[in-house]
Amino acid sequence: MLLTTHRYAKALQLTLAVIKPDAVAHPVIMEALHQKILENNFVIVRCRDLVWRRQDSEKFYEEHAGRFFYQRLVEFMSSGPMRAYVLAREDAITVWRELMGPTRVFRARFTSPTTIRGQFGLTDTRNTSHGSDSLESAQREIAFFFPEFRVEEWMEKEEPSFRRGLMEYDQQRLIHKLLAHH
Ligand code: RTP
Ligand code: MG
Repeated sequence: MLLTTHRYAKALQLTLAVIKPDAVAHPVIMEALHQKILENNFVIVRCRDLVWRRQDSEKFYEEHAGRFFYQRLVEFMSSGPMRAYVLAREDAITVWRELMGPTRVFRARFTSPTTIRGQFGLTDTRNTSHGSDSLESAQREIAFFFPEFRVEEWMEKEEPSFRRGLMEYDQQRLIHKLLAHH
């Protein structure tokens, strides 16, 4: 366990972040991304490794059904293990999307070479990571990956303590936990 001392001024926001199969296939990239999450003062609320069936992939991306890249996307996202995170931070949604960089890999490499996609993205589809783009999609996507997780309950019961920094990092489970006596 590592004690963390970070305190937040504003309320924490939740987002859903996914490390896609192209990156999970490379342990060194996975580790670099996990460190990037910690360095950017995200609270890791949940972390889960999983593999999608094709129908999970189709359902998650149904808003893109009919787009030219849909089949390719659905196949890719069910092609191997990925890692999903529930992350909390001030402005978590925007901050994570800024860390990811542009969707298109050549744009990312050219305009934002230090972003996740700029550094590690392979193609416009195999672009290393996903992040919710609004409060509504964060709610929906957290429920999709972590059906047992209660956003409202977490906000009410745990957010105030995490905001004050009363947490430690569990290196085995790769998540932050509230200190036991709080
Ligand atoms: P995401 O949803 O994954 O966070 O990415 P995004 O908002 O930046 O991109 P979006 O337009 O929602 O597209 C979802 C995912 O579809 C794949 N894609 N492939 N031209 C292509 O081959 C193409 N365009 C999009 C990417 O994996 C993208 O992240
Ligand atoms: Mg999107």
